[in-house]
Amino acid sequence: MHDSDSSQEKESGENRGSFTGKLGFVLAAAASAVGLGNLWRFPYLTSHYGGGAFLVVYVALAVTFGFTLLIAEVSLGRRTGKSCIDAFRDLSKKYSFIGWLLAIIPILIVPYYCVIGGWVLKYFVESATGNLETLATGGSGGDPYWWDYITGTATGSVLDPSIWFVIFAVMCIIIINLGVSRGIEKVSKILMPMLLVMLLIVTAFTFTLDGIGDGLAFYLVPKFEDLSYDTFLGAVSQIFYSMSLAMGIMITYGSYMKKDVNIEHSARNIGLIDTGVAFIAGLMIVPAAFCFGFQDSSGMGLMFNALPMVFHQMPMGEIVAPVFFLLVVFAALTSAMSLAETAVSIFKDRMHVSRPIAVGIVSAIILGLGLVCCLGFGPWMTNVPGDQGAGWLGIFDTLTNSILMPIAAILTCFFIGFVVKTALIEEEIEINGVFRSKKLFRVMIKYVCPLCLLAILISGMYGTFFA
Ligand code: PHE
Repeated sequence: MHDSDSSQEKESGENRGSFTGKLGFVLAAAASAVGLGNLWRFPYLTSHYGGGAFLVVYVALAVTFGFTLLIAEVSLGRRTGKSCIDAFRDLSKKYSFIGWLLAIIPILIVPYYCVIGGWVLKYFVESATGNLETLATGGSGGDPYWWDYITGTATGSVLDPSIWFVIFAVMCIIIINLGVSRGIEKVSKILMPMLLVMLLIVTAFTFTLDGIGDGLAFYLVPKFEDLSYDTFLGAVSQIFYSMSLAMGIMITYGSYMKKDVNIEHSARNIGLIDTGVAFIAGLMIVPAAFCFGFQDSSGMGLMFNALPMVFHQMPMGEIVAPVFFLLVVFAALTSAMSLAETAVSIFKDRMHVSRPIAVGIVSAIILGLGLVCCLGFGPWMTNVPGDQGAGWLGIFDTLTNSILMPIAAILTCFFIGFVVKTALIEEEIEINGVFRSKKLFRVMIKYVCPLCLLAILISGMYGTFFA
């Protein structure tokens, strides 16, 4: 969210802005990290991959794998003082293509991110206008309302979800165009803690639901017979998404970090905040969904199916629901903006077009691909290759999270482990004292991370093209 400032600073050469200190950096990075990944994606994956078993694997991978990549990206950024394309080019011309690859990913994520943002916006408006009951119970033919809504059964066509998508996308575009992201960041320092408080309140209420004990056991107690290769792959892809890794974002953020801030501590804190919020969102949604009996059938609709039912039963749910969805809209908007702003600055700096033209190109991509996602649940449903109920949106999600991000991350690991060597990163971290996880870092970045990533990549490709 400092990106709009950054692009101006880039033009003026040396004078790059920086975060005010450790807290400034951690909060800005956490604001990018906390978004729909934590609130929407993490709960449905957890539910889908067997609850507790997924949770354990996710947390174990976050502290090893996620932490390693986060440290690597932030250090790369601070070392070079550049954002992703230039950071790679500065260190080795030959490998600057890795920076390009990282840069393409946000451009492909932001359209479908805005589609989901549109659903949240719709849920906010419906719950604020007294239609919570419809959201909770309005489904037909055994399907929950969310499915009827996105497939157009509820309203006769996919026009309504498309309109809400366009509204969300336009909000995002207007904000980056006005360059008011600084102000949004200040506001998000108030709204983010509010979101956390609301998460805790709603979670506390779900504990009173009938049969919640079984739901909690499903979420918290790992049944290791549920562990499969897919659990592991789902967890790795979620770590990229949730921690904003493998898309150049943390490199850019690292480039704004002052030299006296400890990278290792900051990375640990960002990881803790992001994983903590995901854990609480899971605690709020997964056990409740289990109680209502759709923990497995909902897929990416889990949040949209479970929460209205929770609010419907909650005292003052009519008030809590709109407030809650509005806070989620906000968290999604801040993340979508940082994705879109990254895309804008890439077009602007690399294609040497003016900012309004760059915004125009990015807007056209967002609207074009986003509408493909909306239509993919309606008239274009049958055209979706290998569709597993997630339509074109699912294809973009898999393409970025399970294919492009692993490729980008393998190349980053290779680049750090074998081209510029780990000493470069270690030196950068040791500017502020001992690098405690140095040995772990070396082994992870050179061997463990690339091997795991290769596994996820192969299976992601197999799942997309052959399954
Ligand atoms: N990490 C964000 C989320 O969890 C998604 C995101 C990725 C946002 C990259 C900005 C940049 O929703």
